[in-house]
Amino acid sequence: MKQLETSKGKFSPGESPFSEKLGLLEFKPDYATPDFFARWSFHTKIYGEAVEVDHLVVSFLDFTSLENYAAALAKFQGRVVEGPGIFPLEFCPQNYSLTADLWIHLETILMPSGGLVVLQAPHAEGDRTHRFIQERGLAAVHHVAIKVDDLQTAALNWQEKGFIPLSLEPVVGDSLTQWFLRNSAGQIIELINRSPENQATFFCQNIGGLRMSEIKV
Ligand SMILES: [Fe+2]
Repeated sequence: MKQLETSKGKFSPGESPFSEKLGLLEFKPDYATPDFFARWSFHTKIYGEAVEVDHLVVSFLDFTSLENYAAALAKFQGRVVEGPGIFPLEFCPQNYSLTADLWIHLETILMPSGGLVVLQAPHAEGDRTHRFIQERGLAAVHHVAIKVDDLQTAALNWQEKGFIPLSLEPVVGDSLTQWFLRNSAGQIIELINRSPENQATFFCQNIGGLRMSEIKV
């Protein structure tokens, strides 16, 4: 495969930015960079499975760091498709409520390859996302979403790898169907099927289900 020159060295477009440590996904050092995501195919292997990544989450300690990163992605023709804003306040209907512990700064960037990079930062010191970063570090992959045609078949496949669905059925809404699964180490993956015109990475009720499920960890 063709090697690409980057400021960090060489990598292949199909290369994985992830390493697996005791069942958990982390970004390899220097891979969670705008430079890498600008050139990455979003096709890779995760837990031995060849996948197309729909989106992945990169975490930041604060909103300023998130915004600086978003600006760097924009220089690589990244286009903002969600946010920036505080989830759920600036994304969901007024009657949608979620405990403030789970609120996050959120922004999603669509890269020229078609892959989405979701940026998140804690909304407040000590909240769930802040604790997540403290526990697992900034290299931790909060979750990665995998494009699939058939969620039921894909879920069965991932169950064989030790990933247990967090809900009995996929969550459906707004031309977006998602199913969140977690392994015994606590790594979350998302199986996603979307209409081509929809570039959202969540539907309020769906992501609410995911975030609430994290409380049970
Ligand atoms: Fe997601």
